[in-house]
Amino acid sequence: MTAVKTESVERPEAGQPLLEVRDLHVTYGSGAFAVPAVRGVDLRVEAGRKLGIAGESGCGKSTLALALLRLLPASATLSGEILLDGEDVLTMKWGRLRAVRWAGASIVFQGAMHSLNAVHRIGDQIAEPILLHGRGTPAAARSRAGGLLEQVGLPATRADAYPHELSGGQRQRVMIAMALACDPRLIIADEPTTALDVMIQAQILRLIERLVSDQDLGLIMISHDLAVLSDTCDRLAVMYAGRVVEEGPAEQVHESARHPYAGALSAAFPRVGDLASRHAPRGLPGDPPDPSALPSGCTFHPRCTAALESCAEEDQELRPAGPSRRAACVLVEPEATVTPGGTAETRSTS
Ligand SMILES: Nc1ncnc2c1ncn2[C@@H]1O[C@H](COP(=O)(O)OP(=O)(O)O)[C@@H](O)[C@H]1O
Ligand SMILES: [Mg+2]
Repeated sequence: MTAVKTESVERPEAGQPLLEVRDLHVTYGSGAFAVPAVRGVDLRVEAGRKLGIAGESGCGKSTLALALLRLLPASATLSGEILLDGEDVLTMKWGRLRAVRWAGASIVFQGAMHSLNAVHRIGDQIAEPILLHGRGTPAAARSRAGGLLEQVGLPATRADAYPHELSGGQRQRVMIAMALACDPRLIIADEPTTALDVMIQAQILRLIERLVSDQDLGLIMISHDLAVLSDTCDRLAVMYAGRVVEEGPAEQVHESARHPYAGALSAAFPRVGDLASRHAPRGLPGDPPDPSALPSGCTFHPRCTAALESCAEEDQELRPAGPSRRAACVLVEPEATVTPGGTAETRSTS
């Protein structure tokens, strides 16, 4: 095994975001079979901040997550820029990319059983990236694996267990331990709790929150559940049909969405602890479009209860929707939003 020379990943300079995505496009296949899964996404994550990415299934969230570390299948074509600590992931040489994949940023996937190797002890699996990155002897890597297990709330002695000997929640903890193994600056968690039951979901979310804040890591948390994201993250980006249609401070997006899709998603996933709305959630009829057959104009217009005639013809770019907020909807009027003390829409009338 060859040693990786370019192991160090610099801390970003003050003011420079940890991650900046500019006009990212990802298309699977080509020609008549092209599936434009991500279509011009811009994102920014500051060091130590938590960005949530929401959207229904098929909106391009996982494609975006995989693109961030160039983990997509060969059939995918990418364009744009993915600047991790100012360095473009899309143009990195293979050796550099390999170093960055664990030490710069790492991914926690949904469904830990499929990501863990059934025939290897979990301690060895956690030690593997540490060894691969030349970060110590086998004995040191094993000892670090034990320490990482403790950090995620498992006894170090579980290092000797095989994946099938652990519960679903414990396996997801192992995945988180692996993600932390090479001290990344950014964790990308793609639906990390979707396969778990509700009680365990909450535990795992709290664990991720605690770890990222203790270690001042950046976090990108992906979920279809806006309530979970607004509870965990500082900012939220809502994706629809491969685009970000709204982004802003997490609580504001969840409580007073400006884009009708974000509003519908928010109503489908009421605020954590808000029993009144939880007992009467409002669904959104229909499904997101197939990316290979997108509707004309605003891709949400066929499902939008507020759509104007022009929405079938004209797509909208993200536009200012209040301080530090943007939404891609023709109905958004920035000057009418968020004045001190609340807006006309958000002020309580009761
Ligand atoms: N390997 C692939 N080849 C072709 N199309 C894909 C592939 N992976 C995902 N897609 C398509 O890309 C779109 C976005 O998928 P995905 O990124 O998984 O969305 P999400 O994570 O939001 O559910 C979907 O239409 C999906 O069918
Ligand atoms: Mg997904």
